[in-house]
Amino acid sequence: MAISFFAERGLFHLTNGKFSYYVQIHPSGILLNPYFGAYIEDIDPEQMGRIGGEDWFSHYYCHTDGREKEYEGLYFNASPMLFPSAGGADVRPSAMEIRGARNNKLDMRYVSHRIYRGKPKLSGLPYVRDDAGEAETLEIVLREHVKDIKAVLSLSVLPEYNAVIRNTEFINKTGKPLRLERAMSVVQDLSRADLDIVHFPGEWMFERQFRREALSEGRKVISASAGRSSHEHNPFVMLADRDATETFGEVYAASFLYSGSFKCEANVSKVGVTRLTMGIDDEHFSFAVADGESFTFPEGLTVYSNRGFEGISHQMHDLIRRNLIKDNAPAAYRSVLLNSWEGCYMDFDTEKVLALIASGKRMGVELFVLDDGWFGRRNDDLRSLGDWHVNEKKIDLKKIIDACHENGMRFGIWIEPEMANFDSDLLRAHPEYAAVDISSDPWLSRHQVMLDFADPEVVDEIYGQLEALLSQYDIDYVKWDHNRTLEDYYSAYLGEGRQDEFYHRNTLGYYRLADMLTTRFPDIHFQGCASGGGRFDLGTLFYFPEIWTSDENDPVQRLFIQYGTSFAYPPCVMGSHINDDPVTCYRTKAEIALFGSYGFELDPRRMSDADIGEVNAVTEIYGKFHDDVVLDGDLFRLSSPYDGREFAIDMVDKQKSKALLLVVGLLKKPRTRRFVKLRGLNPWANYVNSFDGKVYSGDYYMKVGINLSDVRREFDSRLITLEEVE
Ligand code: DGJ
Repeated sequence: MAISFFAERGLFHLTNGKFSYYVQIHPSGILLNPYFGAYIEDIDPEQMGRIGGEDWFSHYYCHTDGREKEYEGLYFNASPMLFPSAGGADVRPSAMEIRGARNNKLDMRYVSHRIYRGKPKLSGLPYVRDDAGEAETLEIVLREHVKDIKAVLSLSVLPEYNAVIRNTEFINKTGKPLRLERAMSVVQDLSRADLDIVHFPGEWMFERQFRREALSEGRKVISASAGRSSHEHNPFVMLADRDATETFGEVYAASFLYSGSFKCEANVSKVGVTRLTMGIDDEHFSFAVADGESFTFPEGLTVYSNRGFEGISHQMHDLIRRNLIKDNAPAAYRSVLLNSWEGCYMDFDTEKVLALIASGKRMGVELFVLDDGWFGRRNDDLRSLGDWHVNEKKIDLKKIIDACHENGMRFGIWIEPEMANFDSDLLRAHPEYAAVDISSDPWLSRHQVMLDFADPEVVDEIYGQLEALLSQYDIDYVKWDHNRTLEDYYSAYLGEGRQDEFYHRNTLGYYRLADMLTTRFPDIHFQGCASGGGRFDLGTLFYFPEIWTSDENDPVQRLFIQYGTSFAYPPCVMGSHINDDPVTCYRTKAEIALFGSYGFELDPRRMSDADIGEVNAVTEIYGKFHDDVVLDGDLFRLSSPYDGREFAIDMVDKQKSKALLLVVGLLKKPRTRRFVKLRGLNPWANYVNSFDGKVYSGDYYMKVGINLSDVRREFDSRLITLEEVE
């Protein structure tokens, strides 16, 4: 891996030997990005920069000191720009925008660069970790052509990934305050317009649905604008060859490490070029940057694959597992979990909880999580958010925790730190902590308001309460929820004129609290959650190694949700539980839930012995395969649930010595011969399969497949294990 600089040509080559990313310093000082794709030893920027035909204005002129200067190979609305800024000649979506200077123009030009080992570690924001010191970074300083505004752009490469990690620091040295109006963490120009966009829209209980559509001239916008990355969209998109498949074709993915409102634009110009940008949602964003101060953009990421979508997913999965999540409590992380929510909602007392724990033992539960309803005076969702002390009239928490330990289980608890009810001791004492303007008759959602996490005092107050709780009790696991969107906000702390900073500062407050608590309690496993999967993003995963995927536990719906989620995120970070929805049998529910962080969301006392027997048979497979195969292995999407008839995936451990194959019939099938071909096995190894007990080579399983013609009934499933034999 290397970042090279060819000084005489003003050309940088970022590569890991498998992909190439070229940056060119145009003679004007403007930075171009002529190539991003499969590895290529050298490029000819002069040839690549030509835009044919006599009908083009073939040059742009720079009016400096009244003189006109001619530049070759620079076409502002067609050349691939690395750092396009607003107000200049390029009218496509920009990397950043300002207000408050004499004019809004930002014409950023190269000043200097350095190449160093390592990569930026952001303060107060999540970042891709480089604990092994393997990264290399190209840091370029840019300066506005005439204003004293600087940007430090860092592009980092890690040897394992065909990815460029992008950091930007905006620095105001103009002598006066400025407002930053736009801060895009990803800017990726591609000199082509024949691309599909793949994105993941959804809704509560319907998160991250796979959508693929052709881009054409104009702008496709994907955004979330209510303070969290949202159910409606996800900050992960792909641009793909029109004929790209799971295993074939070029695909570019973009994401950024952020959990607040975001905006992604795919802009196709009439001249046959595409620009992809992703960053903080600029529609509710305006940030004061005083003279001498700087603003750090969230970290962005672009990933390349010439092996279709699977190539992107494998890189994202490995990057998340190796370079993003802090697996700080592996035992709790890998435990079979029982959560109280769907079993009893807030209607519980000590006896009922003890009964749940005892019955969970019949199903091999290793971790019991007490969900919403244990604190303040909370028996419904009208009160007590903000009062993080045990409701001793309702439960004896110590007795519950002791019962878990006596039954060989760990104990976890639910919190929602960023929210409060008006009916809480917290807001009675400090009404100004609520992020609403009470004089404006604010709209509530789920009877609650968010706290003003832009205010460090509010974050400190909640930290104090939670620190006391987690120190007092023996708690192994925390589920961190977030149950309303953040529209209709007002921050008393920010006051008039700075309300547009709220969303971003609130997100920084979330990260600060998450950082303080996960640092103070390194042995507690945190699960993120936001009304199900409303905050499923790389920013949250930096702090919490697992996220609740969805409140939808219907296993068939889950196939679609987990399928969409899997394009960016590995199964190990997806909370995935079995409930008592009667859509399928328990065996099928368990087989689907197994492909995630596995557990139960039900009252086991309502299950028959036969149901428990079905689940336990699957949990046994979990015990044997879950760690190496599901949590650490590679995922292969063999068929899509959107095809309607059948869903199939396999997962293979990194040593290629064992695998799991899941096939779920959807619509009833006619009599058909159906072979399911696996991927990812060692072609030269022999594996015994649990379906018919036969031994075949990896080559055979991948070329001929397993004959599953008899999986024909609706929602019938097969979970098949493969183990290497001599
Ligand atoms: C929303 C979560 O997604 C549920 O699992 C549950 O924790 C409820 N909130 C509790 O209020």
